Amino acid sequence: MEFSIRALAPQGAKTGCLVLGVYQAGDARAPVLTRAAAAADRAARGRLRAVLAHGDLRGKAGSTLLLHGIAGLAAERILIVGLGEQKEFGETPFREAVRGAAAVLRELGARDAAVCLADLKVGRRATAWNVRHTALGLRDAFYRFDQLKTQRKPPAPVLAAVTIAMQGGPVTDQARAALREAVATADGVALARTLGNLPPNICTPAYLADEAKKLARQFKLRLEVLERRDMQRLGMGALLSVTRGSHQPPKLIVLRYAGGAKKDPPLVLVGKGITFDTGGISLKPAGEMDEMKFDMSGAGSVLGTLRALAGMKAPVNVIGVVPACENMPGGEAARPGDVVTTMSGQTVEILNTDAEGRLILCDALTYAERLKPDAVVDIATLTGACVIALGHVATGLFANDQKLADALRAAGDDAWDRVWPMPLWEDYQEQLRSNFADMANIGGRPAGSVTAACYLARFAKKLRWAHLDIAGTAWKSGRDKGSTGRPVPLLVRFALARAGR
Ligand code: BES
Ligand code: MN
Ligand code: ZN
Repeated sequence: MEFSIRALAPQGAKTGCLVLGVYQAGDARAPVLTRAAAAADRAARGRLRAVLAHGDLRGKAGSTLLLHGIAGLAAERILIVGLGEQKEFGETPFREAVRGAAAVLRELGARDAAVCLADLKVGRRATAWNVRHTALGLRDAFYRFDQLKTQRKPPAPVLAAVTIAMQGGPVTDQARAALREAVATADGVALARTLGNLPPNICTPAYLADEAKKLARQFKLRLEVLERRDMQRLGMGALLSVTRGSHQPPKLIVLRYAGGAKKDPPLVLVGKGITFDTGGISLKPAGEMDEMKFDMSGAGSVLGTLRALAGMKAPVNVIGVVPACENMPGGEAARPGDVVTTMSGQTVEILNTDAEGRLILCDALTYAERLKPDAVVDIATLTGACVIALGHVATGLFANDQKLADALRAAGDDAWDRVWPMPLWEDYQEQLRSNFADMANIGGRPAGSVTAACYLARFAKKLRWAHLDIAGTAWKSGRDKGSTGRPVPLLVRFALARAGR
């Protein structure tokens, strides 16, 4: 899907489908036209108002009405989309409207469309926000994962080109930059979603390393892939303990994008890359275990974010670090009770082999020290407890630096890929006490996502560090089962905001 942005009067848009917004009015009244819709209505000699007066569309946010053959308008179809009540208009109704329009566009025969929503005032957001969320919302709705089905049904949508139509004044540089950002971000989200959706017999640690290789080639990134013997040399006893039960060789992927000034220390993104989590000897129950193929979503989001930033030539230095392996049971697998020595030198008693994410991340965090980072953010489907705490709405945010936490929070709000702060207080640390090593790898049932983060904090003392627990937000279950690509939009916005964009 190709996007463009231009100054365009709605009535003159020669397009397969013209998308216009209307606000919901009180009770029995017809909806209120936006400026673009009113202009189109004048050109159509009042046909739009006349149709709306019939009461077929109240204007509820995301509701739609499709019209054909309106004389006076150059467009083949008019798609009227509800924006909700004007006094309640804001970010949520705007996004619902985009989603509603996208759902209809997906089913149409239209090859192109012009969307007139960018001029709307959404709270205190600038036009760039509308542009980003229009393009991202459309791309997200058109994403498909059908490469493993032998029969593609229903047929793929035909919409090939979308124009973001601006009515008021010329198109600004900010609006153009916002569109470039959105398209690159959408590419990154799509990559993260596809990596997540791929089955665990295809998306192995080696597959992730190959994917990194492809990105390195396409975008001229520097890539290093550490093998088992490198991990042994570095003393990554925790990471190595997790991979022991698996026949798939582990990989530690280090992918560098240098778009910023040479002297700028990099942002390091560390992504949990467990390509399948059986729990190991502390085996998980069978129900929904298939969803543990999504346990590499942190890794997918790191690769997706690098793809996005490199794709838009962002002026930032970012290094992705992805510890990738499988967590399997087996005769060689780590046992509950094993004590391992991490790369940091600290020892860990493995009380539960299913708490494996923190074991691979702690060594990756120690490795990250070598990259002399300005800040480190790790992204992990770390705990079921985080799903209990925050559900599928917010990602859990933990940080040892308030400024970093605030910046991630703001980026998440802007990208509508939201996070919510959780504590890292010392008081929780005693739950990790072990009689046989420096610490245990689990802290019991209470505050499970907090003790997991507190465990990681012990390996991030020398870093400005934040941890995102995406266990509840990285994928959806049930009928809509599939990867969401979160938190790529948050990470891209965060990296750009750091560079003043
Ligand atoms: N990958 C899981 C976390 C997870 C579970 C995410 C379910 C999303 C849905 C992680 O490796 C894990 O198994 N965590 C354990 C930790 C426990 C053993 C302390 C958990 O959450 O149960
Ligand atoms: Mn686990
Ligand atoms: Zn896991």
